[in-house]
Amino acid sequence: MSKLWGGRFTKQTNHLVEEYTASINFDKALAEEDIQGSLAHVTMLGKCGILPQDDVEKIKEGLNTVLGKIREGQIEFSVSDEDIHMNIEKNLIEEIGPVGGKLHTGRSRNDQVATDMHLYLRSRVIEIVGMLHALQEALIGQAKENLDTIIPGYTHLQRAQPILFAHHLMAYVSMFQRDAERLIDSYKRINVLPLGAGALAGTTFPIDRHFVAEQLQFDRVYENSLDAVSDRDFIVEFLADASLIMMHLSRLSEELVLWSSTEFNFVELDDAFCTGSSIMPQKKNPDVPELVRGKTGRVYGNLMGLLTVLKSLPLAYNKDMQEDKEGMFDTVATLEGALQLFAPMIATMKVNKGRMREAVNQDFSNATDIADFLVGKGLPFRQAHEVIGKTVLYCIQNGKYLLDLSLDEFKQFSELFDDQIYAVLQPEAVVNARNVYGGTATTQVADAIRRSEAMLGLT
Ligand code: ARG
Repeated sequence: MSKLWGGRFTKQTNHLVEEYTASINFDKALAEEDIQGSLAHVTMLGKCGILPQDDVEKIKEGLNTVLGKIREGQIEFSVSDEDIHMNIEKNLIEEIGPVGGKLHTGRSRNDQVATDMHLYLRSRVIEIVGMLHALQEALIGQAKENLDTIIPGYTHLQRAQPILFAHHLMAYVSMFQRDAERLIDSYKRINVLPLGAGALAGTTFPIDRHFVAEQLQFDRVYENSLDAVSDRDFIVEFLADASLIMMHLSRLSEELVLWSSTEFNFVELDDAFCTGSSIMPQKKNPDVPELVRGKTGRVYGNLMGLLTVLKSLPLAYNKDMQEDKEGMFDTVATLEGALQLFAPMIATMKVNKGRMREAVNQDFSNATDIADFLVGKGLPFRQAHEVIGKTVLYCIQNGKYLLDLSLDEFKQFSELFDDQIYAVLQPEAVVNARNVYGGTATTQVADAIRRSEAMLGLT
């Protein structure tokens, strides 16, 4: 098979070289975008009088036929045609004859591939923002069901202060909100058209880049042709945004794994989202959160990989840049796979309110509140801290919790105690005492839920 660029060569390409340099096995994922870009390009060539309208119509028809065939799986891509761009051009020429060879007028694969990547990523970003919103909705749904569910809040994975389970879930809603906002912000850097940059310097043909941008609904065109074909920042940025999303999913995953252990027994994931063991009949494993936690590694790896590929690359296009694709495709698939499962998994998760309550009743996470109580009676906080430290130690040594102590026992540690202390120490009181904006008091969390719902347009 002759190469589209074969003229200068006197020998056939070594077939190992063909296989090594070809990207068709993965960049075939860009087929739709490639044809979309070509249709806009050839329309512009007609409009600018660079190609006769006749040719333009033939090429457009041919491109649509090729697109249809690709969708039907009727085209077998070939490694000897290297990549998706040349495979499509080859097929176009087979379809409509030599006139198909006019499509590449005023264009290079360098601005073409960059355009494909921009088109590809901008629709994925919109998709992923939608998936983040669906996950936020699921978390908010669970939060609304758990406005009266109290769990121990932890620092250092040690019981710290009781909080509403809804408050804990809403923390993740905030994280995914930042993630969505980051993606939306990145859109303005993704939605820029490189086409018209040519190989690196622009083109001798009187093209109209703004017309192409308009047709493809890009907000702007690249200012500088060298930058247009060399820029992969938008992919690095996406991989970084994806890494943060995976990091958040992975933190939530870790909590789900812990919470569904017998030791915690705070939640139970739906059977449909768990798997069993081939040997231990009793097992129900939280494989989905475990895998999401694990797959976070490859997404970070893809980010590091691309940053490293681009480091020190001279301008403009270098073949190294073909390495931008697999990591990006893999990241999109990994991220979308995780998000797609997470929303229904959270929505169907059973919350063991009774067990959570039991945990709260069996800890010292109300200790800060009696210290605050003594402060209210005039004791400096540092002294109150010391008094309560001793009280807790006494409890531990005597197998009791704070609420088990009699008033006489309390008074051994400070005369300032009175029987109001029992009301202060109730978990509900402890939670509702944190009535600051962003705090865990029920009214604050209910407000936070309302604000999030409004922001997501759920009300
Ligand atoms: N397959 C190539 C890539 O993905 C397309 C651009 C090739 N350009 C070139 N000058 N060889 O990067």
